[in-house]
Amino acid sequence: MIFDFLNIQPDNARYFPAERLQLFATSILQALNVPEEHARISADALVSANLRGVDTHGIINLLEYTPMILDGSYTIPQEIRVIRESESTALMSNGNGLGFVGGVYAMRLAIQKAWETGSGQVVICDGRHIGMAAYFSMMALEHDMIGITYTNGSRSVRPILGARTRLGTNPLAFAAPAGKQRPFVLDMATSTVAGRKIELAHNLGVPIPEGWAVDYKGHPITKPPLKRSDAWAQNPLGNTLVQGGHKGYGLAVMIDIMTGVLSGGGYGANMSFGQNYTWVMALDISRIRPVDEFKQMMDDMIIELHSTPPEEGAEQVLVAGDPEADTQVLRMKTGVPFHYDQVKKLNELAASLKVDGLH
Ligand SMILES: NC(=O)c1ccc[n+]([C@@H]2O[C@H](COP(=O)([O-])OP(=O)(O)OC[C@H]3O[C@@H](n4cnc5c(N)ncnc54)[C@H](O)[C@@H]3O)[C@@H](O)[C@H]2O)c1
Repeated sequence: MIFDFLNIQPDNARYFPAERLQLFATSILQALNVPEEHARISADALVSANLRGVDTHGIINLLEYTPMILDGSYTIPQEIRVIRESESTALMSNGNGLGFVGGVYAMRLAIQKAWETGSGQVVICDGRHIGMAAYFSMMALEHDMIGITYTNGSRSVRPILGARTRLGTNPLAFAAPAGKQRPFVLDMATSTVAGRKIELAHNLGVPIPEGWAVDYKGHPITKPPLKRSDAWAQNPLGNTLVQGGHKGYGLAVMIDIMTGVLSGGGYGANMSFGQNYTWVMALDISRIRPVDEFKQMMDDMIIELHSTPPEEGAEQVLVAGDPEADTQVLRMKTGVPFHYDQVKKLNELAASLKVDGLH
């Protein structure tokens, strides 16, 4: 997590290796009747978020998905279906099941279309939470392709100058391969932060910085609310008009258009909690220029950016993807930290489903 005040402190944490978490998440989902392949795909996406330090979008969310699977909000098992298709585009149904499965199938299809035509775009009309959007964009990297993912969500963000929520936190994730340098992976909500960071601050009992959210009159708040309501709203990226909040707002609407309006699923203001309509794209770099040359220029650019003299008090200039890649290297060695309370809750969930807990 790039914000220290939201990090789990080592003296409150237990560490688990990725393989253990993968097995745990797969078992929980299988106990909920999710077919093995879909359970594995979902577990991999969740554990990948944990490994990269995006813990708000990791396996802790099984606590949220489980009651929604049990009460029938999710359709399990789900059927992934291509509704309409051209050589380079497709409209896909996620079968109202786990969002990770639809996301992975959509990006696989986009990559296949990119092999055949140069680029592929797939949009999902009935998706559910896809977690860390970078997971899907990064699938393109091993094929020397650029991957892009947009997803929209139910309302928690205000339009600039508005005093009520109308938009989701609508993230975009862009992944481009480099040569010797690590890939550039920009994965960001179009609100100032992902909503789950505010929920985490609430759970940790720490204030949020001014600029993340406002009350129903548009005044900044620093006490993190737990539940969404009309009493408060997240800010679009930029926060205020003078700081460029109209641009974050515009990006969020653009993503609503490319996901919900284009697929016909719906836009933020008329979506329910937990829905994510997703658009993915894969672009075959070799159709534009030789991949080696592209990667060499990527390396040069990243080295140039890294070499920028840092501002006073800062260690080094980074590029997007650096913090998560560093965290992944570390966590492959140390395991993934979980707060004692989180372990307790996950083990209670496991016990309720008669599955092995995190020991
Ligand atoms: N599925 C959903 O509905 C949904 C909604 C919102 C967000 N999310 C996910 O939440 C996660 C967190 O989103 P966020 O907006 O809070 O992300 P964030 O603010 O933690 O990071 C955003 C980006 O900034 C980069 N970054 C961080 N420090 C940097 C630095 N010093 N220099 C250069 N780049 C730097 C990161 O690598 C990342 O690509 C993402 O994975 C996103 O996909 C999902």
